[in-house]
Amino acid sequence: MTDWSPGAYERTAVQLEPVAHVAVDAADVQPGDRVLDVACGTGNALLAAAARGVWVAGVDLAPRLVGVARDRAARAGVEADLRVGDATALPFDDDAFDAAISVFGVIFAASAEDAASELLRVVRPGGRIVVTAWVPEGPIHEGGQLARRVVGELSGSSAEPPRNPSWGDPDALSALFAAATVRITEQHLAFTASSPNAWVDDQLDHHPLWLGVRQRLGERMTAVGEEVIRLMTEGNEDPAAFRTTSRYRVVHVTVP
Ligand SMILES: C[S@@+](CC[C@H](N)C(=O)[O-])C[C@H]1O[C@@H](n2cnc3c(N)ncnc32)[C@H](O)[C@@H]1O
Repeated sequence: MTDWSPGAYERTAVQLEPVAHVAVDAADVQPGDRVLDVACGTGNALLAAAARGVWVAGVDLAPRLVGVARDRAARAGVEADLRVGDATALPFDDDAFDAAISVFGVIFAASAEDAASELLRVVRPGGRIVVTAWVPEGPIHEGGQLARRVVGELSGSSAEPPRNPSWGDPDALSALFAAATVRITEQHLAFTASSPNAWVDDQLDHHPLWLGVRQRLGERMTAVGEEVIRLMTEGNEDPAAFRTTSRYRVVHVTVP
């Protein structure tokens, strides 16, 4: 399992801020609600929710990122209950929240079933759960698949297991949230940089997932980096710089 503390995930989190606002809108939070941000990272969604007058909590496996979220909340004057913990064993009581949000967070949990059942446990009947999950396509997805494949080959298996696929699959989602009402909508987010090389360099130098890959690949990382630049160049939507647009699903669950 990747440790998201090393590197500077903050740089990616800034680019994901628009998604936090989409997720908070989707959760239809009302002043006075209690809202949990699961796998909160640096706290984007909980801060977006707090700005709507709700009481917020957050949980993440990476202690350094929980610290960053705590600092951001303090600077914003937001009182937040922030904890280090696992999405598959949430450190909160049953029915403790009116809504739970997870922006590209629970999709990384080892067991989608356990994460879904924990979300259903901590949100009260009638409450809302909103999860965002990337659509598995496009150059960024292909770069990640390449890294997983090469790391898998090095460790002797034909491929590393793909990221938990359930969150992008409408049928699997209905099964995960069984008795709940599930609705899926789609959005997109553009990632930009001055050039494909600049984007890849930044990712490889700072993103925790790529830092983990670099550590495991050693010298083979140069060839993989070149292949990732090729993928980004082929998928580049802006000939004068770099832009790639990734689609994502917004999963809206109403707890029965
Ligand atoms: C792509 S980041 C998203 C962070 C944040 N939600 C955002 O919008 O920027 C994924 C986050 O999931 C966290 N994470 C991964 N597996 C987890 C788990 N099982 N339980 C809690 N957090 C987890 C990581 O530590 C990381 O902060």
